[in-house]
Amino acid sequence: MLRRFHSLPALAAGLFLSLIAASGAVLSVQPALDHAAAARAEASIGAVAARIKAAQPGLRRLTRSPDGLLTAQVRGGAGPQMLTVDPVTGAAQPIAGESPAMRWIKGFHRSLRLGEGGRLAVGLMAAVMALLAGSGLWLLARALGGWRRLGGPVRAAGARGWHARIGRAAMAGLGLSALTGAWMSAATLGLVPDGTAPTLAPLTAAGPAQALDAMPALDLPLAALRELRLPARPGEPLVLDAAGRVTQIDPASGMVLAAATHGAGARLWDWAYLLHTGHGAWWLGLLLGVAAAAVPALAGTGLMVWAARRRMRVPGNVPMAEADLVILVGTEGGTTRGFAAALQRAATGAGQRVHLGDMNDAGPMPRARALVLMAATWGDGAAPASAARFLDRLAGLAPIPVAVLGFGDRMFPAFCGYAARVQTAMAAAGFAQLIPPGTVDRQSPADFAAWARAFGRALGLDIAPEHRPALPRRHALRVVSRRDYGQAVAAPSVILRLSVRPWWLGGPRFQPGDLLGVMAPGATAPRFYSLASASADGFAEIAVRRLPGGACSPWLHGLHPGARLRAFVRRNPAFRAGDRPTVMIATGCGVAPMAGLLRRAAPGVDRSLYLGLRDLDSDFLYAPELTRWRRDGRLTRLIPAVSRGAAPRHVQDRLREDAAALRRQIAAGARVLVCGSLAMGRAVAAEMDALLAPAGLSVARLKQEGRYVEDIY
Ligand SMILES: Cc1cc2nc3c(=O)[nH]c(=O)nc-3n(C[C@H](O)[C@H](O)[C@H](O)COP(=O)(O)O)c2cc1C
Repeated sequence: MLRRFHSLPALAAGLFLSLIAASGAVLSVQPALDHAAAARAEASIGAVAARIKAAQPGLRRLTRSPDGLLTAQVRGGAGPQMLTVDPVTGAAQPIAGESPAMRWIKGFHRSLRLGEGGRLAVGLMAAVMALLAGSGLWLLARALGGWRRLGGPVRAAGARGWHARIGRAAMAGLGLSALTGAWMSAATLGLVPDGTAPTLAPLTAAGPAQALDAMPALDLPLAALRELRLPARPGEPLVLDAAGRVTQIDPASGMVLAAATHGAGARLWDWAYLLHTGHGAWWLGLLLGVAAAAVPALAGTGLMVWAARRRMRVPGNVPMAEADLVILVGTEGGTTRGFAAALQRAATGAGQRVHLGDMNDAGPMPRARALVLMAATWGDGAAPASAARFLDRLAGLAPIPVAVLGFGDRMFPAFCGYAARVQTAMAAAGFAQLIPPGTVDRQSPADFAAWARAFGRALGLDIAPEHRPALPRRHALRVVSRRDYGQAVAAPSVILRLSVRPWWLGGPRFQPGDLLGVMAPGATAPRFYSLASASADGFAEIAVRRLPGGACSPWLHGLHPGARLRAFVRRNPAFRAGDRPTVMIATGCGVAPMAGLLRRAAPGVDRSLYLGLRDLDSDFLYAPELTRWRRDGRLTRLIPAVSRGAAPRHVQDRLREDAAALRRQIAAGARVLVCGSLAMGRAVAAEMDALLAPAGLSVARLKQEGRYVEDIY
């Protein structure tokens, strides 16, 4: 519902909003230009006015813009003239008029150049923008698991991820611009009080005029000036609009004759004007301009998100509140959805009213007789993106019989770990078990079919859904080079560099830490290797340890430059370092993704690498690169742990030796990335738990915050 509240107005107004915001972004540089052009003077209004009058005897009116530009209206032989004046010297030059392009853009921004009707439309657009900023913030907080996590990492990939990140960064600026813009439109349309200055009844003054710099009423700082009007003929008072009030001043005595303060409407207008245009706070103007420039990007990514959702629409889907059977999916890569759709089709065919949705969207299901949870596991037992909020929402659900089906890979230590957690939480929340929890290993069609038949029997449905997921698109790669290591210490490893087609010619896109799925000839399932490069590097690189009797690694070890293979990329968005301090812990070929991250890293961020190996001369993968990166500042510390020789050490020994420093780094926000064998991953986690405990931290807590990421096998 909230999503529709966000997307429908955005779809209707996206193009208009983009144009208005883009024109606002262009206008936002004006305050900074004016500020740079304005000469500053510390003198009083009286002193500056006297200086200007001496240079321009025909001075009638002096105006100061919020950015400090002084303009003078001067009456001379050739009629009135507008000049910009220097407050220090009194020197003047004719005003360079606004460029026609700027005038056009301003007119467009204010009223689409369509008069009153256009003004109203722009005001409505501002209100829509405010609505979108508010609903967007709400949706983001919901997606990230609550308001307190609003600043946390965004896990969504692609257009969704960018939409969320850009929206979050621009939200405050857009909200402010929208609210103040709506107010200003309402004020110009007379719907709320506007910024007109108060008027005073005309008075008569007598006597010869005093010098301007001697008048006490003009003894105010120049920065307070808005406008000073000098008498056009004898007997008229001076009129000063400064410091929030309008005063009439007797030119003979220099004293105030009458005064009126600006009303609340005018003060509100002034604030709205400042906060909307940045005139008077040029830096704010630039910030608002950057936020406004984000609107076209938000419109574009928003449209992509909407189109992707539409593509995923399930035919025959029934709203959750009306369904007999609710199927909720926890997925990161999207493959589990294919299985869920097969079940939905089969159950619908058997006469059930079925709802299929994401676990994150779990809500009341008053008519359902059963709930099916189909959940994948990612990152060593963690929840996949579309289920990240499910356990938090569980408390609000009324218990009904539930069937949990986990999707995972037996290669991972926590096989279907998240589904197991869900099962335990459901039981604790009072949901009866419809059938025992099932598991599907590596998207096995047979595992799924067997579970689905048992599920159908439990509900008295004669169904036999089948689903055979298509292998992801595979790309042709060629071995460019290989570097061999570890023979002497019985840890044969090879770094394979593979050529890939650029992504804009249809090649794969990937980041270091993503996984390359390789299927050896005759194998039934792919094996995954962490990538040590990004597609932007122009090659794909993996490090492979040869496992005796392995299904894939012996075959890869047999490949030499020129050999061809086909492989696909699986994203692993959690395994990223970004530009925050990072503690990397790796053993053997686990150094590969770390090397990939460092290759693309900029110097100047604290990064340490704890690297476990057997022998410095035999299996020190990436030795030349790591030494170079250590020297050029991309890697702050390289801490090898050599497990053979006179003083054998494992990475966990090194961690223990550095316990105090590590604790400090991690407490200050550093991220931990671990890559290597299962045994190493467990030993490191135990060591980290021990060293973090005094700081009140734990591996589990860091994992929850997305700050401890493992890629262990
Ligand atoms: C980076 C990564 C981490 C994974 N971690 C686990 C895990 O800890 N336990 C598990 O059983 N499966 C794990 N898997 C396997 C996925 O759960 C499995 O491939 C699943 O079918 C993916 O479903 P999805 O495409 O719907 O997200 C992992 C896969 C990847 C790529």
